[in-house]
Amino acid sequence: MKLSSTLLMASMALNNGFSASSPETNDLTVHLDQPAKPISSNLWGIFYEDLNYAADGGLYAEMIQNRSFDFSALEQPDWNALSFWEVSLEGDASARLIVDAGRPLHRNNPTYGVFKVDNASGKAAIRNPGFDGISVEEGKSYNVSAFARLLHIGPRWTPAKPEEKAPELIARIVAQNGDIIAESKLPPLTTDWSKLKTSLVAQKTDTHASFELVATEAGGIALDIVSLFPADTFRGRENGLRKDIAQTIADLHPRFIRFPGGCLVHGNGVENFYDWKDSVGPLETRKGQPNLWGYHQSVGLGYFEYFQFCEDIGAIPVPVVAAAVSCQHTGQTFDIGQSCLPIEEMERYIQDTLDLIEWANGPADSKWGSLRAAAGHPEPFGLKYVGVGNEDKMTPEFEERFKLINDAIQNAHPEITVIGTVGPFPDGEDFEIGWSIANELQLEVVDEHYYRDPDWFWDNLDRYDSYDRSESKVYLGEYAAHDEGRRLTLRSALAEAAFMTSLERNGDVVIMASYAPLLAKIGRTQWNPDLIYFDNQTVYPTISYEVQKLFGETRGDEYLQAEIPTLEQRFAASAVRNSESGNAFVKLVNGADNPIPVTLNFASDSKLAKQVKVTTLAGELDDTNTAEKPGTVLPSTQTQKLKKASLPLELPPYSLVIVELAPAD
Ligand code: AHR
Repeated sequence: MKLSSTLLMASMALNNGFSASSPETNDLTVHLDQPAKPISSNLWGIFYEDLNYAADGGLYAEMIQNRSFDFSALEQPDWNALSFWEVSLEGDASARLIVDAGRPLHRNNPTYGVFKVDNASGKAAIRNPGFDGISVEEGKSYNVSAFARLLHIGPRWTPAKPEEKAPELIARIVAQNGDIIAESKLPPLTTDWSKLKTSLVAQKTDTHASFELVATEAGGIALDIVSLFPADTFRGRENGLRKDIAQTIADLHPRFIRFPGGCLVHGNGVENFYDWKDSVGPLETRKGQPNLWGYHQSVGLGYFEYFQFCEDIGAIPVPVVAAAVSCQHTGQTFDIGQSCLPIEEMERYIQDTLDLIEWANGPADSKWGSLRAAAGHPEPFGLKYVGVGNEDKMTPEFEERFKLINDAIQNAHPEITVIGTVGPFPDGEDFEIGWSIANELQLEVVDEHYYRDPDWFWDNLDRYDSYDRSESKVYLGEYAAHDEGRRLTLRSALAEAAFMTSLERNGDVVIMASYAPLLAKIGRTQWNPDLIYFDNQTVYPTISYEVQKLFGETRGDEYLQAEIPTLEQRFAASAVRNSESGNAFVKLVNGADNPIPVTLNFASDSKLAKQVKVTTLAGELDDTNTAEKPGTVLPSTQTQKLKKASLPLELPPYSLVIVELAPAD
């Protein structure tokens, strides 16, 4: 049982530490003159999972789909190694595209395409439509690369005639109407695998272009990792991220990123765990695999890129490894499908996890640290947390394996905090067993998950007030308010905002929290709602995103004492201060359909600034920010005078209002 009744009483009495005031005045007094409670400065972060085409076709800027000729029916019943490629012929040309596996580029990359051209007169090309079209902008540059090998000149079984020339490849971007809007020849082919590169500048904007490789002569050409990347990626990183999506994430000011999942981590069976080792090193040595969400993950966006992104945006990396058991829904089952790594394989598995720590933090001349250095990052990444398991079914098999992994990490790396897991729900059997394992092992942090309707969040604002502060701290790794029909409403966003004020109040026990899931490509979702939607051109942040962003921008590391009125209607508030800047932030959530008059008072021993910034996010409960109606509900900020340390406010119906008080000049 998680709740401590003594603490519950104490904290309910304190509930925000505040007594009720008379309804007419709704005085809310924030005490800058009294000691504040230290809370986590890392409370707001993000949970990134490659779900809803978040990576390939999303954040990862690669524009070619199935670039490595390794899609399979395990991903979609009608997929194969040649999916998303077609032959495009004009005039007398004749050609085929087949798949082969002899002399592959690398054993982790066993299949490749063979473009067999019998007659190149006219046009013999292979074409790729990207992920629902390739979106290019006039004047922008795109980098093309491909691993290629010349197999034969002219027909396969006949020695090349003196007059026959070796085929070369021309890379093209072709507009929807057939216009060639960019074209460049690749360097000559060699008889061994070599990486050919060129770049293209789009002469026209087109949202649904396609990519072609045209052969100049008859012959056979092996091709693998055919790639088209915008030259302009986030922070200019090679093999980088789509700039607009990455910037939208960065704008949340996340203090940490949990990655790469979610269910993705413990996978569809033990062979489908996300293996970090498969995701690092040169692209041609990485091992893509089916994503349990029903598509292919190329792992082009792999552990190096995740850690680099964290560093680029000042977020703490929180990688998650499977607890050596698979998702309990493995193999088309529900809840009964957990499969476990055989115990005799645990030593090797645990070593892989220890190797991850060395890869991230070890010196550049260590075995695994040298791989990081070779990728361009000789300095350690400063890994502090490793998540073990993801809302697993709490079976004896899980427990045994979790303990082995946890012990090994604690022994070898006491500097690393292991984050445990307590099942998929806010209560119930897995939750209870998970917490008892955490208590037994004295874990520093456990990961709670819950998706519930907006009412649940309003009804549970006191959830953490009663948590025993001597037990494990909580990382609320996945949460979201799911409105009816899983819509993206202001109703959900306000319920989340109200709950987040309670997380701030309990920021001494809840040390991290992340909304879930983060990203979704429109038309390619397996899960709704998500925080950020996008298509190939545009990013559409939801109202929940605006809430997360506002909290990220106004984070504190001290919870201020305050007298907050208890109202008959839905209302929640919190007051934090950022000790570095000295800024205080008061958050007020009105969940009712009437305005609430509030007089906000600041009790202080010292002089206060003459004005405050007041940011308001308000609308109708059913409002949504979607691709059809983007930006329906957006925050707006005004400056208001602070007179005698007091501020009259009228909280609009259905609103989040944040008051920011900077230190006096
Ligand atoms: O966030 C979507 C999914 O929800 C995650 O993969 C899983 O951990 C949870 O069930």
